Amino acid sequence: MQTLLVTGGAGFIGANFVRHVLAERPDLRLVNLDALTYAGNLANLEGLPQDQAERHRFVHGDITDPDLLAELFKAQAFSGVVHFAAESHVDRSILDPLAFVQTNVLGTVRLLEAALGSWEAGGRPDDFRFLHVSTDEVYGSLGAEGRFVEETPYDPSSPYSASKAGADHFVRAYHRTYGLPAIVTNCSNNFGPYQFPEKLIPLMILNIVEEKKLPLYGDGRQVRDWLYVIDHCRALVTALEKGLPGETYNIGADEERENIEIVRLLCDLLDRKLGREPRSSRRLIRFVADRPGHDRRYAIDAGKLRLELGWRPAYPFEQALAETVDWYLDHQVWVDGVRSGEYRKWMDLNYQARETSKAPNPPEKESA
Ligand code: NAD
Ligand code: DAU
Repeated sequence: MQTLLVTGGAGFIGANFVRHVLAERPDLRLVNLDALTYAGNLANLEGLPQDQAERHRFVHGDITDPDLLAELFKAQAFSGVVHFAAESHVDRSILDPLAFVQTNVLGTVRLLEAALGSWEAGGRPDDFRFLHVSTDEVYGSLGAEGRFVEETPYDPSSPYSASKAGADHFVRAYHRTYGLPAIVTNCSNNFGPYQFPEKLIPLMILNIVEEKKLPLYGDGRQVRDWLYVIDHCRALVTALEKGLPGETYNIGADEERENIEIVRLLCDLLDRKLGREPRSSRRLIRFVADRPGHDRRYAIDAGKLRLELGWRPAYPFEQALAETVDWYLDHQVWVDGVRSGEYRKWMDLNYQARETSKAPNPPEKESA
């Protein structure tokens, strides 16, 4: 039975990937290496059926630790590495860029070194894959037209995206220089179960439920291209199975939405689910100081992945969003668990960084 090394598998996308692969691929074992930062949570992996739990081994450790990596790669020959572990939140990167250099750049290079050493010692097997999970943010910001393709030049705006861009370059360099069979995927904004509520969608869901203010940065008209996390996981499995070494694949589902549209959708969905007056939660929307260097628009052209590897998104956006809302409503224990002291400290810091403005709600005629 083949074994994959997954890094960051206790985080949002990593945990969904671990669950997806264990359920869909009984032929695979996973070793899951995660440092359990504020974003990593063993509760994300709870409740695996016995036969799946037996194929999953969790290792608590840091990808910047070369001794631990050497030990892991020595103990077993992995058939591939799926690399999620990262500092992932743009606002945090603005307040603490070095943490992002440490994990996203140095950690990725340490992992590449360990993978290369093991791959070479094992006779450079052709079917080994190093799959690096990256972001569309490396391409920078779009104007009103156009979409990111794999050839779009890198132009990162935030310390987060700069660190991911650095990591992407190292992964490609290890392929070109040493022949390591590496693939890079660049994906758009994910949403779904187990997402830490610092990110737009889960933050807004929980604030609406609790009738707290809904902070929209700037004018709220920035555009993100949304993808249900399980569709991302399916795309990663496709890239792992059918992708060619040295190639890059963009992942996205053509679901562009302005932030304000997302927040209004969530308000209206929750008003219905909670039996509130229609549109009443929209009153909670507040425009606050913008994120510095805020990218205006992201849009992914995933044509290469669709045409060359045959992937298609399977989950309609509105249905997946409604199911995500249900998931947060049904998982209060998980919510309480992640909103610990660490979470509250972050919310205070972030609110200090952008004092709530006095701007009123946008006029109703702009409603989605
Ligand atoms: P997340 O913040 O929810 O999870 C990150 C995980 O990595 C956590 O479990 C954390 O404990 C772990 N980690 C952090 N530093 C580590 C270290 N030094 N050693 C070992 N583990 C460490 O992130 P996410 O949203 O699940 O994103 C996963 C990956 O996907 C990231 O690489 C991110 O850049 C990329 N990505 C995310 C999105 C998105 O919308 N969330 C979109 C495209 C790409
Ligand atoms: O595009 C992929 C990227 O998507 C990933 O690489 C990142 O890891 C992930 O965090 C995400 O980055 P964003 O910055 O786009 O996601 P975030 O949820 O932080 O913000 C989404 C949009 O909503 C963005 O335009 C900022 C805005 N926003 C966010 C928060 C948290 C608000 O207006 N108010 C908020 O409170």
